[in-house]
Amino acid sequence: MEKISGGEAVFAAACSTCHQPNGVGVRGAVPPLNDPAFMEPAVLTAVILRGVEGPIRVGRETFDGAMPGFAGQLTDQDIANVASYVRRTWGGADAGVDPGAVARARAQAAGAGPWRGGRDLTRVSPALLPQPAWSGPAPLPVDGAVLALINEGRGEALACSSCHGPQGQGGDPIPRLAGLPADYIAAQLDAFAAGRRRNDQMSGVARALGPTERRALADYYSRLAAPSTATPSLDGDRALGERLALRGDWSRDIPACFACHGPSGFGGGPRLPALAAQHPGYTAAQLSAWASGQRTGDPGGLMGEVAGRLSEQDRRAIADYLAGLPSSPATVPRNRR
Ligand code: HEC
Ligand code: HEC
Ligand code: HEC
Repeated sequence: MEKISGGEAVFAAACSTCHQPNGVGVRGAVPPLNDPAFMEPAVLTAVILRGVEGPIRVGRETFDGAMPGFAGQLTDQDIANVASYVRRTWGGADAGVDPGAVARARAQAAGAGPWRGGRDLTRVSPALLPQPAWSGPAPLPVDGAVLALINEGRGEALACSSCHGPQGQGGDPIPRLAGLPADYIAAQLDAFAAGRRRNDQMSGVARALGPTERRALADYYSRLAAPSTATPSLDGDRALGERLALRGDWSRDIPACFACHGPSGFGGGPRLPALAAQHPGYTAAQLSAWASGQRTGDPGGLMGEVAGRLSEQDRRAIADYLAGLPSSPATVPRNRR
C-alpha cells in the first residue's frame, strides 16, 4: 500500500498536468495511460526516464507531441512508485515495478535523449507494433518574406524576434507567441493595427503590416513548438492559482479558467489562447488591463467580467501557477505538413 500512495503523490506532482488526474490525457495532444502494451514495466520505465517525442500510436490514435524525460528529477524509487501506481490504477496489473530494474534501465539510458516516436520504443518491446515511422522534425513551411519580417523587420515593423525571441518564447513581460492559435494571434494583430488593443510597442508594428502579412505571421507562430522559458516570479500562491484555474471559486462567481482555456491551459479553440507557460508579468498585466477596461474586444466580453472579480493576490497566484506549467503542443504537429 505504501508504494501506491507514494506513486500517487509523484503522479500528481510530475504527470497529472499533462495526462490529467484520471489518466485520460488530452484529446489530440496527450495520450491516455491505459494501452496495455505501454503499461509493461520496461516500457513505462523507458518512457519516464528518457521522455518521448514524435509520432506514437497509443490505442487506436496517433499522437505527435513531446514528453520530457524525468531521469534528472526522479529517483529510482520515485519512478518505480509512479510506474506501479499507473500500472495498478489504469493498466489492470497487480505486480509493481522494482526499483532495481529502474536503476539498470537508468544506467543504459545515460546520456540518451528522448525516444524518437513509438517506432524507437519498439526496441524495448516489439508488442508496441505497429508504430508510425519517425521522420524527424520537418522544417516550418514559410516563405522568405515572413522570415525576413520576423528576423530583420521592415521600417516600423521591427523584427518580431528582437522582442519575442528567436523561437517565439517571449521574455517577461513580453508574451510567448509559440503555439498560440493562429486565429487568436491574427485577431490580436488586427486589434493592435485598428487601435482596439493598445500598446506602445505593438501598435506601430502591427500598423506597418498588411493584412496578408499579419495572417502569415499568425500561421507561423501557431506552428512553433518551443519549450517554456517562463518562471514564476510574482511570489504568488500557486496552490490558490491551481484551484482557480481548475475549479474557479463559485462563492465569488469566478469560473474555472480551464473551462474555456482547455485542459492544462493548452488552449480551448481558435479564439481561446493557451495560458500555460506564459510569462507571469505579462499574464498579470493583461488581467489588470481587462479589470480596468484598458483591454477589451474579446468575443462576448467575458474576460473583462472574469478579470474584474479577481483580487491582486488572485492575479499573482494564477500567473505564477500558469508560468510553472509545461508549454502547449503546437497547433499543427511539427512532423506533418
Ligand atoms: C509535459 C506533458 C507531459 C508530462 C509532464 C508527462 N507526460 Fe507522458 N506523455 C506526454 C505526451 C505528449 C506523450 C506522447 C509523446 C509523443 O507524442 O511522442 C506522452 C507519452 C507517455 C507514455 C506513452 C504513451 C501512453 O500514453 O501510454 C507514457 C507511459 C507516459 N507518457 C507516462 C508519463 C508519466 C508516468 C509521467 C510522469 C512521471 C508523464 N508521462 C509526464 C506528455 C507528458
Ligand atoms: C519592440 C518590441 C516588440 C516587437 C518588435 C514586437 N512585439 Fe509583439 N508584443 C510586444 C509587447 C510588449 C507585447 C505585449 C502587449 C500588451 O501588453 O498588450 C506584444 C504582444 C504581441 C501579441 C499579443 C500576444 C497575446 O498573447 O495576446 C502578438 C500576437 C504579437 N505581439 C506579435 C508580434 C509580431 C508578429 C511581431 C513582428 C511583426 C511583433 N509582435 C513584434 C513587443 C514587441
Ligand atoms: C468564458 C470563457 C473564459 C473563461 C472562463 C476565462 N477566459 Fe480568459 N479568455 C477568454 C477569451 C475568449 C480570451 C481571448 C480574448 C481576446 O481574443 O482578446 C481570453 C484571454 C485570456 C488571456 C489573454 C492571453 C494572452 O495571451 O494575452 C488571459 C491572461 C486569460 N484569458 C486569463 C484567464 C484566467 C486567469 C481565467 C480564470 C480566472 C480565464 N481567463 C477564464 C475566455 C475565457
